[in-house]
Amino acid sequence: MSYLTSTLNNAHNKKDFDCGNQLLNNYLHTQAKQDIKRRLSACFVLSDETEVVKGYYTLSSSSIQKELLPAKIISKLPPSYHSLPATLLGRLAVNNSFKGQRLGELLLLDALKRSFHVSLSSIGSMAVIVDPIDEAAERFYTKYDFILLPECGKMFLAMETVAQLFH
Ligand SMILES: CC(C)(COP(=O)(O)OP(=O)(O)OC[C@H]1O[C@@H](n2cnc3c(N)ncnc32)[C@H](O)[C@@H]1OP(=O)(O)O)[C@@H](O)C(=O)NCCC(=O)NCCS
Repeated sequence: MSYLTSTLNNAHNKKDFDCGNQLLNNYLHTQAKQDIKRRLSACFVLSDETEVVKGYYTLSSSSIQKELLPAKIISKLPPSYHSLPATLLGRLAVNNSFKGQRLGELLLLDALKRSFHVSLSSIGSMAVIVDPIDEAAERFYTKYDFILLPECGKMFLAMETVAQLFH
């Protein structure tokens, strides 16, 4: 399977990455490598031959409480499941110098493709969920049909919907 991104490695120039959000900058600068080592998340990077990081995203296994899902989806699930397996797209960010070139969209599609293929071939996952960092991020994900879940602040896209993009 081909992807636009590669896993974060030591050759990538992380320190100059600036997406305008300090939490997401710091994550790449100081925490991403540790999280990978501890198997807390996987980090994928879009870069060129200069190894400048144009953008990145992280994926982890996660779960969603069934009661938070829309009734239409709950009605199709077996009653015995209280917590449903999902893939968390925890962070996604584009370097300021490359914003507005549709790289955010490309990174999102790359993350959805990886999530879908894993769900199909190796680890069950019924949705991709995101944790929007602010209202602008929420608007970005809303453009791509993510819906806001009650109480938890997370947004949800059913894997059934993601599958339609890659079949
Ligand atoms: C949000 C972000 C990833 C978008 O990246 P980008 O490469 O500039 O966006 P793209 O060029 O791919 O834009 C794709 C579409 O999303 C829209 N969009 C971009 N940023 C947006 C934002 N902050 N709010 C709402 N819509 C946004 C664009 O207008 C475009 O819409 P169109 O299809 O109507 O033309 C980037 O601005 C960023 O890194 N922001 C800081 C970190 C962040 O908020 N991450 C989000 C999740 S934690």
